[in-house]
Amino acid sequence: EKGGYDYFMLKEIAEQPKAVADTLLGRIDASGVLSLDELRIPPAVLREVDKVVIVACGTAYHAGMIAKYAIEHWTRIPCETELASEFRYRDPILDRHTLVIAISQSGETMDTLMALRHAREQGAKVLAICNTNGSTIPRESDAVLYTHAGPEVAVASTKAFLTQLVACYLVALYVAQVRGTKWGDEIRDVVRELAAIGTQVEQVLDTMEPVRELARSLADKNTVLFLGRHVGYPVALEGALKLKELAYMHAEGFAAGELKHGPIALIEDDLPVVVVVPSPRGRSVLHDKIVSNIQEIRARGARTIVIAEEGDETVVPYADHLVRIPRTPVLLQPLVSTVPLQVFACELATARGNEVDQPRNLAKSVTVE
Ligand code: M6R
Repeated sequence: EKGGYDYFMLKEIAEQPKAVADTLLGRIDASGVLSLDELRIPPAVLREVDKVVIVACGTAYHAGMIAKYAIEHWTRIPCETELASEFRYRDPILDRHTLVIAISQSGETMDTLMALRHAREQGAKVLAICNTNGSTIPRESDAVLYTHAGPEVAVASTKAFLTQLVACYLVALYVAQVRGTKWGDEIRDVVRELAAIGTQVEQVLDTMEPVRELARSLADKNTVLFLGRHVGYPVALEGALKLKELAYMHAEGFAAGELKHGPIALIEDDLPVVVVVPSPRGRSVLHDKIVSNIQEIRARGARTIVIAEEGDETVVPYADHLVRIPRTPVLLQPLVSTVPLQVFACELATARGNEVDQPRNLAKSVTVE
Protein backbone atom coordinates (compact mmCIF):
# COMPACT_ATOMS: atom_id res chain seq x y z
CA GLU A 1 0.00 0.00 0.00
CA LYS A 2 3.01 2.27 0.09
CA GLY A 3 2.82 2.34 -3.71
CA GLY A 4 6.49 1.52 -4.22
CA TYR A 5 7.76 4.05 -1.69
CA ASP A 6 9.82 3.03 1.35
CA TYR A 7 7.64 5.08 3.68
CA PHE A 8 4.11 6.43 3.74
CA MET A 9 5.60 9.85 4.33
CA LEU A 10 7.44 9.75 0.99
CA LYS A 11 4.28 8.62 -0.74
CA GLU A 12 2.25 11.37 0.92
CA ILE A 13 4.80 14.04 0.01
CA ALA A 14 4.61 12.85 -3.59
CA GLU A 15 0.81 12.93 -3.54
CA GLN A 16 0.68 16.63 -2.74
CA PRO A 17 0.00 17.98 -6.25
CA LYS A 18 -3.03 15.72 -6.48
CA ALA A 19 -4.16 16.42 -2.91
CA VAL A 20 -4.06 20.14 -3.61
CA ALA A 21 -5.89 19.77 -6.94
CA ASP A 22 -8.56 17.54 -5.36
CA THR A 23 -9.15 20.09 -2.61
CA LEU A 24 -9.71 22.80 -5.22
CA LEU A 25 -11.94 20.65 -7.39
CA GLY A 26 -15.44 22.00 -7.93
CA ARG A 27 -14.81 24.99 -5.67
CA ILE A 28 -13.66 27.48 -8.31
CA ASP A 29 -15.69 27.80 -11.50
CA ALA A 30 -14.33 28.49 -15.00
CA SER A 31 -14.75 32.25 -14.60
CA GLY A 32 -12.76 32.28 -11.35
CA VAL A 33 -15.75 32.61 -9.02
CA LEU A 34 -15.62 30.62 -5.81
CA SER A 35 -18.59 28.47 -4.95
CA LEU A 36 -18.59 27.18 -1.41
CA ASP A 37 -22.32 26.60 -0.96
CA GLU A 38 -21.33 23.42 0.85
CA LEU A 39 -20.36 25.65 3.82
CA ARG A 40 -24.02 26.21 4.54
CA ILE A 41 -23.20 29.48 6.27
CA PRO A 42 -25.53 32.00 4.63
CA PRO A 43 -23.74 34.98 3.03
CA ALA A 44 -25.77 37.24 5.34
CA VAL A 45 -24.10 35.62 8.35
CA LEU A 46 -20.65 35.92 6.79
CA ARG A 47 -21.25 39.60 6.15
CA GLU A 48 -21.83 40.14 9.86
CA VAL A 49 -18.67 38.43 11.05
CA ASP A 50 -16.48 40.96 12.85
CA LYS A 51 -13.72 38.66 14.10
CA VAL A 52 -12.17 35.38 13.00
CA VAL A 53 -10.43 33.12 15.49
CA ILE A 54 -8.51 30.06 14.31
CA VAL A 55 -7.78 27.19 16.69
CA ALA A 56 -5.60 24.17 15.93
CA CYS A 57 -2.58 22.18 17.12
CA GLY A 58 0.83 21.34 15.69
CA THR A 59 1.08 21.48 11.94
CA ALA A 60 -2.58 22.51 11.60
CA TYR A 61 -1.78 25.49 13.86
CA HIS A 62 0.94 26.53 11.43
CA ALA A 63 -1.63 26.42 8.61
CA GLY A 64 -3.81 28.63 10.79
CA MET A 65 -0.98 31.11 11.36
CA ILE A 66 -0.57 31.46 7.60
CA ALA A 67 -4.34 31.80 7.17
CA LYS A 68 -4.31 34.84 9.46
CA TYR A 69 -2.18 36.77 6.96
CA ALA A 70 -4.51 35.84 4.11
CA ILE A 71 -7.76 36.48 5.96
CA GLU A 72 -6.75 39.88 7.31
CA HIS A 73 -5.30 41.03 4.00
CA TRP A 74 -8.12 39.90 1.73
CA THR A 75 -11.15 40.34 3.98
CA ARG A 76 -9.98 43.11 6.37
CA ILE A 77 -11.60 41.20 9.24
CA PRO A 78 -9.38 40.99 12.34
CA CYS A 79 -8.13 37.44 12.78
CA GLU A 80 -6.22 35.71 15.54
CA THR A 81 -4.76 32.24 15.52
CA GLU A 82 -4.40 30.42 18.79
CA LEU A 83 -3.12 27.07 19.96
CA ALA A 84 -6.26 25.08 20.72
CA SER A 85 -4.72 23.88 23.99
CA GLU A 86 -4.42 27.48 25.26
CA PHE A 87 -7.62 28.89 23.89
CA ARG A 88 -10.36 28.25 26.41
CA TYR A 89 -8.14 28.76 29.43
CA ARG A 90 -7.70 32.45 28.75
CA ASP A 91 -11.42 33.22 28.71
CA PRO A 92 -11.49 34.44 25.10
CA ILE A 93 -13.98 37.09 23.99
CA LEU A 94 -16.46 35.49 21.61
CA ASP A 95 -19.98 36.21 20.48
CA ARG A 96 -22.32 35.41 17.60
CA HIS A 97 -20.36 37.68 15.26
CA THR A 98 -17.20 35.65 15.79
CA LEU A 99 -16.30 33.00 13.23
CA VAL A 100 -14.13 30.31 14.77
CA ILE A 101 -12.23 28.07 12.35
CA ALA A 102 -11.04 24.76 13.76
CA ILE A 103 -8.40 23.07 11.61
CA SER A 104 -7.69 19.37 12.06
CA GLN A 105 -6.52 16.56 9.81
CA SER A 106 -7.91 13.78 11.97
CA GLY A 107 -10.97 15.58 13.28
CA GLU A 108 -10.34 13.88 16.62
CA THR A 109 -7.77 16.10 18.33
CA MET A 110 -9.09 16.60 21.85
CA ASP A 111 -7.59 20.06 22.41
CA THR A 112 -9.18 21.35 19.22
CA LEU A 113 -12.50 19.72 20.05
CA MET A 114 -12.57 21.28 23.52
CA ALA A 115 -11.74 24.68 22.02
CA LEU A 116 -14.60 24.52 19.54
CA ARG A 117 -17.05 23.33 22.19
CA HIS A 118 -16.08 26.33 24.28
CA ALA A 119 -16.55 28.64 21.28
CA ARG A 120 -20.01 27.31 20.54
CA GLU A 121 -21.05 27.65 24.17
CA GLN A 122 -20.22 31.36 23.85
CA GLY A 123 -22.42 31.63 20.76
CA ALA A 124 -19.70 31.74 18.10
CA LYS A 125 -20.17 30.00 14.74
CA VAL A 126 -17.64 27.23 14.16
CA LEU A 127 -16.34 26.18 10.76
CA ALA A 128 -14.23 23.01 10.68
CA ILE A 129 -11.50 22.45 8.11
CA CYS A 130 -10.98 18.73 8.28
CA ASN A 131 -9.62 15.78 6.29
CA THR A 132 -11.64 12.98 7.87
CA ASN A 133 -15.23 12.53 6.82
CA GLY A 134 -17.70 12.22 9.65
CA SER A 135 -15.11 12.65 12.43
CA THR A 136 -15.99 14.35 15.71
CA ILE A 137 -14.77 17.90 14.99
CA PRO A 138 -16.87 18.41 11.83
CA ARG A 139 -19.84 16.67 13.46
CA GLU A 140 -19.77 19.14 16.33
CA SER A 141 -19.22 22.22 14.14
CA ASP A 142 -21.79 24.47 12.45
CA ALA A 143 -20.17 23.98 9.07
CA VAL A 144 -17.33 22.07 7.46
CA LEU A 145 -15.01 22.45 4.53
CA TYR A 146 -13.35 19.12 3.88
CA THR A 147 -9.80 18.89 2.61
CA HIS A 148 -9.38 16.12 0.05
CA ALA A 149 -5.88 14.92 0.86
CA GLY A 150 -6.96 11.29 1.10
CA PRO A 151 -5.90 9.20 4.11
CA GLU A 152 -2.70 10.42 5.75
CA VAL A 153 -0.91 7.54 7.46
CA ALA A 154 2.52 8.90 8.41
CA VAL A 155 2.48 10.61 11.80
CA ALA A 156 4.23 13.66 10.33
CA SER A 157 1.65 15.69 8.49
CA THR A 158 2.52 16.73 4.92
CA LYS A 159 -0.23 16.56 2.32
CA ALA A 160 -2.87 17.39 4.93
CA PHE A 161 -0.98 20.62 5.69
CA LEU A 162 -0.91 21.73 2.06
CA THR A 163 -4.60 21.03 1.68
CA GLN A 164 -5.38 22.86 4.93
CA LEU A 165 -3.65 25.88 3.42
CA VAL A 166 -5.71 25.56 0.25
CA ALA A 167 -8.91 25.33 2.30
CA CYS A 168 -7.93 28.40 4.33
CA TYR A 169 -7.17 30.39 1.18
CA LEU A 170 -10.53 29.33 -0.26
CA VAL A 171 -12.37 30.47 2.86
CA ALA A 172 -10.50 33.79 2.93
CA LEU A 173 -11.13 34.45 -0.76
CA TYR A 174 -14.75 33.37 -0.48
CA VAL A 175 -15.44 35.66 2.46
CA ALA A 176 -13.78 38.49 0.53
CA GLN A 177 -15.97 37.68 -2.47
CA VAL A 178 -19.13 37.63 -0.36
CA ARG A 179 -18.35 40.89 1.42
CA GLY A 180 -16.75 42.70 -1.49
CA THR A 181 -13.23 44.00 -0.97
CA LYS A 182 -10.94 46.62 -2.33
CA TRP A 183 -8.59 43.90 -3.54
CA GLY A 184 -10.88 42.70 -6.36
CA ASP A 185 -8.20 42.52 -9.07
CA GLU A 186 -5.62 40.95 -6.81
CA ILE A 187 -8.14 38.35 -5.71
CA ARG A 188 -8.99 37.42 -9.28
CA ASP A 189 -5.28 36.90 -10.02
CA VAL A 190 -4.75 34.87 -6.87
CA VAL A 191 -7.72 32.61 -7.60
CA ARG A 192 -6.31 31.95 -11.07
CA GLU A 193 -2.88 31.11 -9.68
CA LEU A 194 -4.30 29.03 -6.84
CA ALA A 195 -6.26 26.96 -9.37
CA ALA A 196 -2.94 26.01 -11.03
CA ILE A 197 -0.76 25.64 -7.93
CA GLY A 198 -0.56 21.82 -8.15
CA THR A 199 1.78 22.13 -11.13
CA GLN A 200 4.14 24.30 -9.11
CA VAL A 201 4.18 21.85 -6.21
CA GLU A 202 5.04 19.21 -8.79
CA GLN A 203 7.94 21.34 -10.08
CA VAL A 204 9.36 21.57 -6.57
CA LEU A 205 9.12 17.82 -6.09
CA ASP A 206 11.02 17.26 -9.33
CA THR A 207 14.04 19.21 -8.09
CA MET A 208 14.53 17.75 -4.61
CA GLU A 209 17.64 15.60 -5.12
CA PRO A 210 20.11 18.29 -3.95
CA VAL A 211 17.97 18.83 -0.83
CA ARG A 212 18.17 15.13 -0.01
CA GLU A 213 21.92 15.16 -0.54
CA LEU A 214 22.27 18.18 1.72
CA ALA A 215 20.16 16.53 4.41
CA ARG A 216 22.37 13.43 4.40
CA SER A 217 25.46 15.60 4.81
CA LEU A 218 23.97 17.16 7.95
CA ALA A 219 23.09 13.91 9.73
CA ASP A 220 25.69 14.51 12.46
CA LYS A 221 24.54 18.01 13.37
CA ASN A 222 22.80 18.70 16.67
CA THR A 223 20.90 21.86 15.83
CA VAL A 224 19.24 23.44 12.81
CA LEU A 225 17.62 26.87 12.88
CA PHE A 226 14.88 28.14 10.56
CA LEU A 227 14.13 31.78 9.77
CA GLY A 228 11.25 33.36 7.93
CA ARG A 229 9.11 36.47 7.78
CA HIS A 230 5.46 37.18 7.03
CA VAL A 231 3.94 33.90 5.76
CA GLY A 232 7.46 32.46 5.74
CA TYR A 233 7.57 32.66 9.54
CA PRO A 234 5.01 29.87 10.13
CA VAL A 235 6.79 27.94 7.36
CA ALA A 236 10.00 28.21 9.41
CA LEU A 237 8.12 26.90 12.46
CA GLU A 238 6.77 24.03 10.40
CA GLY A 239 10.23 23.16 9.07
CA ALA A 240 11.51 23.05 12.64
CA LEU A 241 8.59 20.94 13.87
CA LYS A 242 9.16 18.38 11.12
CA LEU A 243 12.82 18.12 12.04
CA LYS A 244 12.07 17.66 15.74
CA GLU A 245 9.50 14.97 15.25
CA LEU A 246 11.31 13.03 12.54
CA ALA A 247 15.05 13.58 13.05
CA TYR A 248 14.89 14.10 16.84
CA MET A 249 17.15 17.11 16.39
CA HIS A 250 17.03 20.40 18.19
CA ALA A 251 15.34 22.67 15.68
CA GLU A 252 13.84 26.10 16.17
CA GLY A 253 12.00 28.49 13.93
CA PHE A 254 12.24 32.25 14.37
CA ALA A 255 10.73 35.33 12.82
CA ALA A 256 13.79 36.79 11.12
CA GLY A 257 13.00 40.22 12.55
CA GLU A 258 13.58 38.77 16.02
CA LEU A 259 17.19 37.76 15.30
CA LYS A 260 18.70 40.81 16.92
CA HIS A 261 16.43 40.43 19.93
CA GLY A 262 18.18 37.25 21.02
CA PRO A 263 18.48 34.32 18.63
CA ILE A 264 21.51 35.72 16.78
CA ALA A 265 23.56 34.80 19.87
CA LEU A 266 23.03 31.16 18.89
CA ILE A 267 24.90 31.53 15.61
CA GLU A 268 28.24 29.77 15.57
CA ASP A 269 30.58 28.30 13.05
CA ASP A 270 28.96 25.90 10.59
CA LEU A 271 25.53 26.01 12.24
CA PRO A 272 22.95 25.17 9.55
CA VAL A 273 20.34 27.92 9.20
CA VAL A 274 17.48 27.51 6.76
CA VAL A 275 16.09 30.84 5.55
CA VAL A 276 12.75 31.12 3.77
CA VAL A 277 13.04 34.23 1.60
CA PRO A 278 9.89 36.20 0.75
CA SER A 279 9.28 37.08 -2.86
CA PRO A 280 11.24 40.14 -4.04
CA ARG A 281 8.00 41.25 -5.69
CA GLY A 282 5.05 42.41 -3.60
CA ARG A 283 6.28 43.25 -0.14
CA SER A 284 9.85 43.69 -1.29
CA VAL A 285 10.96 45.58 1.84
CA LEU A 286 10.75 42.29 3.71
CA HIS A 287 12.80 40.59 1.04
CA ASP A 288 15.63 43.09 1.41
CA LYS A 289 15.55 42.86 5.19
CA ILE A 290 15.88 39.11 5.12
CA VAL A 291 18.76 39.30 2.66
CA SER A 292 20.55 41.50 5.24
CA ASN A 293 19.78 38.86 7.89
CA ILE A 294 21.37 36.19 5.71
CA GLN A 295 24.49 38.35 5.36
CA GLU A 296 24.60 38.95 9.12
CA ILE A 297 24.36 35.32 10.13
CA ARG A 298 26.78 34.21 7.43
CA ALA A 299 29.34 36.75 8.64
CA ARG A 300 29.08 34.99 12.02
CA GLY A 301 29.79 31.59 10.54
CA ALA A 302 26.32 30.15 9.82
CA ARG A 303 25.97 27.70 6.97
CA THR A 304 23.09 29.28 5.05
CA ILE A 305 20.49 27.15 3.34
CA VAL A 306 18.41 29.59 1.36
CA ILE A 307 14.97 28.90 -0.07
CA ALA A 308 14.26 31.57 -2.65
CA GLU A 309 12.10 32.24 -5.64
CA GLU A 310 13.38 31.53 -9.14
CA GLY A 311 14.96 34.64 -10.58
CA ASP A 312 15.87 36.13 -7.20
CA GLU A 313 19.57 36.75 -7.82
CA THR A 314 20.27 38.97 -4.80
CA VAL A 315 20.53 35.96 -2.47
CA VAL A 316 23.07 34.07 -4.56
CA PRO A 317 26.27 35.51 -3.02
CA TYR A 318 25.16 34.67 0.53
CA ALA A 319 23.71 31.20 0.03
CA ASP A 320 25.91 28.22 0.88
CA HIS A 321 23.06 26.10 -0.45
CA LEU A 322 20.33 27.49 -2.64
CA VAL A 323 16.93 25.85 -3.07
CA ARG A 324 14.76 27.33 -5.80
CA ILE A 325 10.98 27.51 -5.61
CA PRO A 326 8.60 28.70 -8.35
CA ARG A 327 7.10 32.18 -8.34
CA THR A 328 3.72 32.41 -6.69
CA PRO A 329 1.60 35.25 -5.32
CA VAL A 330 3.17 36.39 -2.04
CA LEU A 331 0.52 34.86 0.22
CA LEU A 332 0.56 31.49 -1.56
CA GLN A 333 4.30 30.93 -1.23
CA PRO A 334 3.96 28.48 1.72
CA LEU A 335 2.38 25.97 -0.69
CA VAL A 336 5.74 25.64 -2.40
CA SER A 337 8.27 26.66 0.28
CA THR A 338 7.12 24.01 2.78
CA VAL A 339 7.79 21.11 0.42
CA PRO A 340 11.64 21.24 0.53
CA LEU A 341 11.44 21.36 4.33
CA GLN A 342 9.36 18.17 4.41
CA VAL A 343 11.81 16.40 2.12
CA PHE A 344 14.74 17.70 4.18
CA ALA A 345 13.32 16.36 7.47
CA CYS A 346 12.31 13.01 5.98
CA GLU A 347 15.77 12.44 4.51
CA LEU A 348 17.54 13.49 7.71
CA ALA A 349 15.39 11.07 9.69
CA THR A 350 16.32 8.27 7.30
CA ALA A 351 20.01 9.18 7.44
CA ARG A 352 19.88 9.07 11.24
CA GLY A 353 18.24 5.64 11.16
CA ASN A 354 14.93 6.83 12.60
CA GLU A 355 11.53 5.31 12.03
CA VAL A 356 10.04 7.78 9.55
CA ASP A 357 6.34 6.92 9.65
CA GLN A 358 6.13 6.24 13.38
CA PRO A 359 8.43 8.64 15.25
CA ARG A 360 9.09 7.76 18.88
CA ASN A 361 6.63 8.98 21.52
CA LEU A 362 4.12 10.33 18.99
CA ALA A 363 0.63 9.29 17.91
CA LYS A 364 -1.15 10.19 14.68
CA SER A 365 -4.10 11.63 16.46
CA VAL A 366 -3.90 13.02 19.95
CA THR A 367 -7.23 12.19 21.55
CA VAL A 368 -6.31 13.20 25.10
CA GLU A 369 -5.75 16.73 26.37
O1 M6R B 1 -5.26 15.75 13.36
P1 M6R B 1 -4.83 17.16 13.66
O2 M6R B 1 -4.59 17.95 12.43
O3 M6R B 1 -5.78 17.87 14.60
O4 M6R B 1 -3.44 17.02 14.42
C1 M6R B 1 -2.79 18.14 14.95
C2 M6R B 1 -1.36 17.79 15.35
O5 M6R B 1 -1.36 16.80 16.33
C3 M6R B 1 -0.53 17.34 14.16
O6 M6R B 1 -0.51 18.29 13.14
C4 M6R B 1 0.93 17.06 14.59
O7 M6R B 1 1.55 18.25 14.97
C5 M6R B 1 1.68 16.36 13.44
N1 M6R B 1 2.34 15.18 13.94
C6 M6R B 1 2.71 17.24 12.80
O8 M6R B 1 3.41 16.61 11.78
